Amino acid sequence: MPEWQDCFHEAAPGLDVRCWNDPAVAVDQVRYALVWEPEPDRLARLPNLRLILSSGAGVDHITADPGWPRHIGIVRMGGADTVQRMGEYVCLGALSLLRGMKRIVDAQAARRWDTFDAPRAATATRAGVMGLGSLGARAAAMLRDLGFVIAGWSRGRKSIPGVECFAGDAEFNAFLARTDLLVCLLPDTPDTRGIICAASIARLPPGAAVVNAARGGHLVLPDLLAALDAGHLSGAFLDVFEPEPLPSAHPVWTHPKVIVTPHIASLPSRRERARYVAEAIAAFERGERPPNLYDPARGY
Ligand code: NDP
Ligand code: OXD
Repeated sequence: MPEWQDCFHEAAPGLDVRCWNDPAVAVDQVRYALVWEPEPDRLARLPNLRLILSSGAGVDHITADPGWPRHIGIVRMGGADTVQRMGEYVCLGALSLLRGMKRIVDAQAARRWDTFDAPRAATATRAGVMGLGSLGARAAAMLRDLGFVIAGWSRGRKSIPGVECFAGDAEFNAFLARTDLLVCLLPDTPDTRGIICAASIARLPPGAAVVNAARGGHLVLPDLLAALDAGHLSGAFLDVFEPEPLPSAHPVWTHPKVIVTPHIASLPSRRERARYVAEAIAAFERGERPPNLYDPARGY
């Protein structure tokens, strides 16, 4: 809390920032709530709440509460730092899969000199990003700049230089069929849950690989493991799971073709998050539309 307060003091000295559980704060004094996985019904008990600020870019951790106050806007975390860090993570995952990083790390742990050729370079690899929003569009551009032959898929058609853009359910299969490296940066909605499953994986070319940095619910993990074991997929780089933390007995931890990271793809510093939140609150108080407002009708 002192660190958060320092960061907010720097970004917005006039803002009185308190801990969620501060007993000195009466519920009717709270105007803004910056949250991650708030306890059910806590937000609904704040009668003068004006805006909810999600500490993450996804809002599923708020809307999972059946009592969340639907008349209050939710601002999703964003900003240049969030976008840059996610792009870096996606490039890390893509290059790790391309160069067999799991095999290299396992060989080092066993002190084994295991020389091998990477099957192909980025310029011969077709990467495809599902979700071309604030994170996906930038990640696609960064993969493009690394040399990947890049495409993206979103609900509405996008236009990004050097990125072949597919749109809507009708073009999903064509997108999968040309994708050697599938990256998921979709929001978690009823339409996108379980989107990486046996059926969609089967449409990827043999030897394809998967990076999931969005939500655990997008991926049917048993289907992914079956496709890895059958040799149809060559590897996976996974940051998000359901549930989190990933239980220690889960087979994915020790799978020879999977790299697991603990939901750290894009975690901007507290200073960056405080600055972003302070700017969003200032915009709201000026009567402007804050950035990255969650749209309940779309579900993201
Ligand atoms: P945005 O809302 O900016 O973008 C979402 C994209 O997904 C849009 O391009 C949208 O299409 C597309 N989309 C949504 N539904 C569908 C659908 N049914 N079919 C096809 N495309 C669809 O989200 P962000 O880029 O900011 O974030 C994406 C997700 O990344 C977050 O929801 C969160 O879950 C995850 N995340 C993970 C982090 C981590 O550390 N692992 C950190 C931050 C975010 P359209 O453009 O047409 O609307
Ligand atoms: C998320 C985040 O939404 O960490 O996952 O920002």
